Amino acid sequence: MSNDRPLFFQVMQYADRADGDVINMVSGSPDWEPPAALREGLVEYADSEPDAFQYQPSEGLTKLRAEIADRRGVDLEQVVVTNGGAEANYLAMAAALERSGGDEVLLTDPVYPYYPRKAELLSGVPEYVSANADGTLDPALIRDAATEETAAIVVTTPNNPTGAVYDESTMCELVAIAEDVDAILVSDEVYDHFDYSGDFSSALAVDSDHRIVTNSFSKSLAITGFRVGYAVVPHALIDSVKTRHMLVNVAGSRPAQYAVLQALQETEPAYYRENRERMYARIEAFTDGLEQAGAEYTIPDGGFYVLARFPEFPGTLANVEQLIDDTGVAGMPGEAFGSARDEWLRFALLSPRVDEAADRLAEYF
Ligand SMILES: Cc1ncc(COP(=O)(O)O)c(C=O)c1O
Repeated sequence: MSNDRPLFFQVMQYADRADGDVINMVSGSPDWEPPAALREGLVEYADSEPDAFQYQPSEGLTKLRAEIADRRGVDLEQVVVTNGGAEANYLAMAAALERSGGDEVLLTDPVYPYYPRKAELLSGVPEYVSANADGTLDPALIRDAATEETAAIVVTTPNNPTGAVYDESTMCELVAIAEDVDAILVSDEVYDHFDYSGDFSSALAVDSDHRIVTNSFSKSLAITGFRVGYAVVPHALIDSVKTRHMLVNVAGSRPAQYAVLQALQETEPAYYRENRERMYARIEAFTDGLEQAGAEYTIPDGGFYVLARFPEFPGTLANVEQLIDDTGVAGMPGEAFGSARDEWLRFALLSPRVDEAADRLAEYF
């Protein structure tokens, strides 16, 4: 395994150290308020008796697991609360590799960069299938690439970085492929509340012993710092997932899980809708500016990110640094996401200043 720090940290560090005013469009952390009930839950927790400050069940606060199970239409026993979607993805890949005779982990290109790194950490071998030009996935290509060596097929919907949302037939076919080659489909759905197309379909819609769904409250409740996510795991794999989670963490953060439970129970749909609407407005403002800049760009169907390609300005780390120095706009190099979008830059629309950023880019290019 390589010990390189992920490019994300290098870019964040460069942007932090840069002189002048930098509009940060690197990180996937929401810049808006969490639900009021979340803050209230935390404050309430501070006044609890000392025993509430001690270990909770390793697999998570039972009431939170029950709330998740109820919302997702699965058995309580299938839910493990994790330290973010990040840990859920790690546990899912570990379980898939542990049960399989093979060591291949099928990923898409472009890819969320932590997947190949996690696969390698677990002695898995990443293999890539190209996404379509519009970011959607052709399941026939996944079927061609899947073999008895495939332990896991890992997908993200809505997608980071392409913004694609996979429809129901794609998700059904991905589960069917996992069943046919005796692998596990890992469906990372951390952006599920940010579907602008109406086409999002969770892998949970298909009942199967061959899929693990991972999710998180980082994005939906604007709390990337809380580290609360979860995995929905087939009965046959839940013991191994819980054991690994317990051996690594003992348990998750009890106050964070308590506050998330309060937020889930008390937050109205309007909270989620307003956050989506804020994103629509930003997508429109930013892509209007990219049009002025003469860029090619994506209009995401979901998630937080826009990919943009500027003439003769490939998505390298050097160019990202140059853009920070020359315009004060910080994005991510496309080369961080595999080879398919290495001509592109990724911008996270998680700043109220996206229109100003677009103006700066239009002036520069
Ligand atoms: C596709 C994807 N999965 C997982 C994560 C990690 O989320 P969490 O904060 O829940 O660990 C991110 C964060 O940006 C992401 O983009």
